[in-house]
Amino acid sequence: MRQDSVVPPLDRLRTQWKREFTTVTALTLSTAGAATLRADALVVGVAKSRKGGKGLVVAPGAEAVDKAFDGRLAGVLETLGASGSEGEVTKVPAPSGLKAPLVLAVGLGTAPEKDEAYDAEALRRAAGAAARALAGVKKAGFALPVEAVEDAEAVAEGALLGAYAFTAYREQGKDAKGPLGEVALLGTKPRDKAYKAGAERAAALAEEINRARDLVNTPPNDLYPESFAAIATAAAKEHGIKVQVLDEKALVKGGYGGLLGVGQGSEHTPRLVRLAYTHPKAEKTLALVGKGITYDSGGISLKPAGHNETMKCDMSGAAAVFAAVVAAARLGLAVNVTGWLALAENMPSGSAVRPGDVLRMYSGKTVEVLNTDAEGRLVLADALTRASEENPDAIVDVATLTGAMVLALGNRTFGIMANDDAFRTSIHEIAEEVGEASWPMPLPADLRKGMDSPTADIANMGERMGGGLVAGLFLKEFVGEGITWAHLDIAGPAFNEGGPFGYTPKGGTGSAVRTLVRLAERTAAGDLG
Ligand code: BES
Ligand code: MN
Ligand code: ZN
Repeated sequence: MRQDSVVPPLDRLRTQWKREFTTVTALTLSTAGAATLRADALVVGVAKSRKGGKGLVVAPGAEAVDKAFDGRLAGVLETLGASGSEGEVTKVPAPSGLKAPLVLAVGLGTAPEKDEAYDAEALRRAAGAAARALAGVKKAGFALPVEAVEDAEAVAEGALLGAYAFTAYREQGKDAKGPLGEVALLGTKPRDKAYKAGAERAAALAEEINRARDLVNTPPNDLYPESFAAIATAAAKEHGIKVQVLDEKALVKGGYGGLLGVGQGSEHTPRLVRLAYTHPKAEKTLALVGKGITYDSGGISLKPAGHNETMKCDMSGAAAVFAAVVAAARLGLAVNVTGWLALAENMPSGSAVRPGDVLRMYSGKTVEVLNTDAEGRLVLADALTRASEENPDAIVDVATLTGAMVLALGNRTFGIMANDDAFRTSIHEIAEEVGEASWPMPLPADLRKGMDSPTADIANMGERMGGGLVAGLFLKEFVGEGITWAHLDIAGPAFNEGGPFGYTPKGGTGSAVRTLVRLAERTAAGDLG
């Protein structure tokens, strides 16, 4: 009865995934200088000079390029109208003396104080904007300021993320240009181990973030619980990650009422995927839980038009968790990371869960479903209980959970809730450090009574006001006693409906992956609890 028009058979999708979906931009540490590098373009940074100084300054790293312009690069760019503002791109034909035909100047915002370095996030964004402007180009040298290894990493990350293009569903060679082919980092010490490791980390991280983006962007007729689980299985095996998939039968046997209830209206049955990366020297175990609603129509509480066109993005949490586990494995972090993907499709049908139905959850608690569109908390509840059984040192769930969080924090900032203030603060700081905008949110106990149900232990909806916090309070009930837990509501930043900016493309963004990976790194280093 399946009516998916272009659904490739599962095995075809599986083989296509690597070849056609993910286009990888190469990263190299160039031993050549800017003047001698053979490339199609050279990227340099420009900034607004600080108060007192006038006009534009060319950022460090571009000295050789400026020299080829007889020291007049800033003037030339000013003539062309460049201001140095963040993300601004100005292209100039290269003078003789350079081996590349084109110089692309990208704005870094206001220059830092003398003796201070450029902010890593400004570098990341500038590199991203430059890489995006170079779509279709084979090779570009990046001559941005990279004093420290962290700066080089930021430039590499930004460039590889900015180069991302999702062209799998377009006719090749038509409007699909494809991404920049190679990013050559200039100004680094290619033989220095730290730079090599930094480049490898940046490449692994960016590739996994781009993998998450691919998953989010893949239309829901191709990406459904079964195909997502198959893709996760294939990739996990490739990286030595243990994988276990509970299909519908296993979920029934296990009593996963939340996942089954949400999934029962769809032709595509739900799945719970467990990914386990382990390290022999690990002392801590981190459990990551992702909301994986491959399409959220709202179910019987159907979403109106205008609210359902982008709901393929409702598996962004699961995509982020998946990407983070693979990244942890690729980086060989000395921490155990378990990933739980709670996969279901929320559809209305004769078999769908109704408003008024009561579900018995995996934990044994009963939930009265008052609104079938509050489905994320139902699938997450089961996964949180299951993850808690293994008694990890901490659980972090990631979910496009509520429209209320988007109203509260906007489209670029995710909310952090937790049952532990110190852990919430740590995650906020970590997010800040990796350049992801987030903000701590409370879990006010008085909002709990709004979810009292006359029939069941709890209802899946409460007061409308503070809806993001209500959802967080619901999840909290399913976290095992004494386990440190945080909840990231990424409903705002997971999917970019506006134009691209910095290293963020239109569509899936890969939100939260960098935060999760840094959290794993910190846990491995013993920096947390
Ligand atoms: N997937 C949505 C939340 C969402 C909204 C994600 C906008 C991304 C962008 C979620 O399942 C949902 O529908 N939440 C409801 C909950 C309500 C019915 C209690 C909401 O936020 O309106
Ligand atoms: Mn919903
Ligand atoms: Zn949803």
